[in-house]
Amino acid sequence: GLCQQASFLKSAAKVQQCPPDEGYEIAFAGRSNAGKSSAMNTLTHARLARTSKTPGRTQLLNFFTLDEQRRLVDLPGYGFAKVPIALKEHWQQHLEAYLQQRHCLAGVMLMMDVRHPLTDFDTMMLDWAEASQLPIHILLTKMDKLTFGAAKNTLLKVQRELHQNWPHTASAQLFSSPKRHGVEEALSVMSGWLEL
Ligand code: GTP
Ligand code: MG
Repeated sequence: GLCQQASFLKSAAKVQQCPPDEGYEIAFAGRSNAGKSSAMNTLTHARLARTSKTPGRTQLLNFFTLDEQRRLVDLPGYGFAKVPIALKEHWQQHLEAYLQQRHCLAGVMLMMDVRHPLTDFDTMMLDWAEASQLPIHILLTKMDKLTFGAAKNTLLKVQRELHQNWPHTASAQLFSSPKRHGVEEALSVMSGWLEL
């Protein structure tokens, strides 16, 4: 599939540095350490995104090309405790600008650790997406850290919350990068957004 042909395009520290706003883009968002970069690597069969954490980094948005019209974007993790407050505000500002201004944004893949779903920032993201009518697909990551029954319970709880609070926006599934669980389900959502 197309997602297996991903290659690094560029990093942008602010919205003005993003590639031209055309075609289709899918953004990977979520708390720091939720498994965004790992999921992106698992879904693309590549080691595109760095999975180590470097709190002092200045690069904000990392763009990967699928074809001339389609891109994936690794967004900075929110809520990383060790980042200085000024840098946090800088990230947040540019993250918001990107989310609000980017016309080619077709959907957001939102990573949440299955053991800590729906944090404050996650619900902010869902509220914003609901208001902007942007679809979100949630990957409940690291399901390999729980028994299948416990993971499935969390999925059902999250789906109930989504149905109650963000009925037009969000869907959810379980995911594990090391076990490659949930890869096909995630790719099928992404293919739909990319009109493949
Ligand atoms: P930031 O870039 O700092 O925002 O983090 P991130 O969301 O990109 O997380 P990353 O993919 O770097 O993963 C963080 C840690 O969790 C790493 O040690 C990964 O190996 C681990 N991890 C990610 N996904 C999974 C998973 O599905 N299962 C398990 N067991 N570990 C995972
Ligand atoms: Mg990352």
